[in-house]
Amino acid sequence: MSKEKDRLDTGSTTGAGAPAASDRNTLSVGADGPLLLHDVHFLEQMAHFNREKVPERQPHAKGAGAFGVFETTEDVSRYTKASLFKKGAKVDMLARFSTVAGEAGSPDTWRDVRGFSLKFYTDEGNYDLVGNNTPVFFVRDPMKFPHFIRSQKRLPDSGLRDNHMQWDFWTNNPESAHQVTYLMGDRGLPRTWRHMNGYGSHTYMWVNASGEKFWVKYHFHTQQGMEFFSNAEAATMSGQDADFHRRDLFDAIARGENPSWILSVQVMPYADAKQYRFNPFDLTKTWSHKDYPLIKVGKMTLNRNPENFFAQIEQAAFSPGNTVPGIGLSPDKMLLGRAFAYNDAQRNRIGTNFHQLPVNRPKVPVQTYMFDGHMAYEHSGNAPVYVPNSGGRPYADQTGAAEDGWESDGAMVRSAYTLHKDDDDFSQPGDLVRNVFDEAARTRLVETVSGALLAGVRSPVLERAFDYWKQVDADVGARIEKAVKAGKK
Ligand code: HEM
Repeated sequence: MSKEKDRLDTGSTTGAGAPAASDRNTLSVGADGPLLLHDVHFLEQMAHFNREKVPERQPHAKGAGAFGVFETTEDVSRYTKASLFKKGAKVDMLARFSTVAGEAGSPDTWRDVRGFSLKFYTDEGNYDLVGNNTPVFFVRDPMKFPHFIRSQKRLPDSGLRDNHMQWDFWTNNPESAHQVTYLMGDRGLPRTWRHMNGYGSHTYMWVNASGEKFWVKYHFHTQQGMEFFSNAEAATMSGQDADFHRRDLFDAIARGENPSWILSVQVMPYADAKQYRFNPFDLTKTWSHKDYPLIKVGKMTLNRNPENFFAQIEQAAFSPGNTVPGIGLSPDKMLLGRAFAYNDAQRNRIGTNFHQLPVNRPKVPVQTYMFDGHMAYEHSGNAPVYVPNSGGRPYADQTGAAEDGWESDGAMVRSAYTLHKDDDDFSQPGDLVRNVFDEAARTRLVETVSGALLAGVRSPVLERAFDYWKQVDADVGARIEKAVKAGKK
């Protein structure tokens, strides 16, 4: 035992646990001679180094996170039976914040939407809520998602980011106007992750103990207050400290300044969805708070930094498909598309058995019929690998109506959503510009958009962009056009 301790104190080992000969010098024939192929330790070091990265997330590559706790402070049992939302429940959790388009090393303070991913390690399995710092999104059909992301990333020839490509996509997809207004407004540059709100964005289903269903939208309000960077501050910070947001969160938690957010939900009775003036499953729309006021649920506090970034943040796997009893999806097509996309991305990015890694493993026993594959670690011994079985191994066997299901229309079609009475692409962003932004915020919006348009956006995308903004708001659109024309030499 003491020999073992000596070894640990005095040197490193090979992957197989034997003492490594030297981490300083390779084995050579004489001091100046050639290296030897049987320097297994050296070969192991070189070979493993070649494999020590996994592909970055596509999208949301740049981010960081921390562990914490979610406490349900209110009684919402009328709406959901989920154990994590029982009054008094305290659940361990992980949060990861990110930018969308930038690569793993890109500056935290580039203008972008910010990811707001949460994993709750509940006693009914892991529940993931993978949202953003805005309540809406750019598109409403998942078919468009890869095209959207590519348009925000890099040109195929030069590998450069390109405003022309971004605005080409947005102006060809007018449903983007609401999210683009948020993005070009102050929310596109949060001062820190601690100073931004988070949203589930989609409509989800809640089911109570009697089987009654509700539609819900999640809102996490920062208790640090919303704070933003100006364009100039963000640009300076991009150069000074590309990891500013990552550093800010880590340092704040290390100092014991644990950031917190209050979770509230908007709850829509199940039957209201058919008649609500906006299609409530359209991710480019919000629900009016007058129609569906916020109902407080509880508080999330981040209080523990990762001990190892790669193991606990890079290998973290969040998926909107990870729900628990009492919480379901909804007819939002984007959400349904996402239900597949994430775990598939993670099988590719991390490996087939990513769910077995400590950061992704639920706190409850896992009884899964997924077996073997690369790096299988957990196993079920010689228990039956098929169902039904006579070996006494339990399996799931629900039949009949899905508890968290909904009615659908029948014939298969390729179609946009059914429009509701007040549905269009420009009213809600217009409302945001006129009634939520003040004059100073509108002026900043005009500056930001015209600055972006002047930086490489060409005809005919430029003219379409003027039209797009005039449809959002006639005055703001005219101001943007004027600023661009004045700035064009
Ligand atoms: C059809 C639409 C969408 C698809 C197919 C999609 C797909 C993906 C994929 C493949 C990843 C990388 C996952 C990984 O490697 O672990 C990702 C990350 C992410 N997505 Fe989406 N996404 C969609 C829409 C959205 C929407 C609407 C939101 C927010 C409301 C969102 C928020 C995020 C966040 C926050 C991450 C980072 C997750 C993390 O922190 O690990 N995505 N998305």
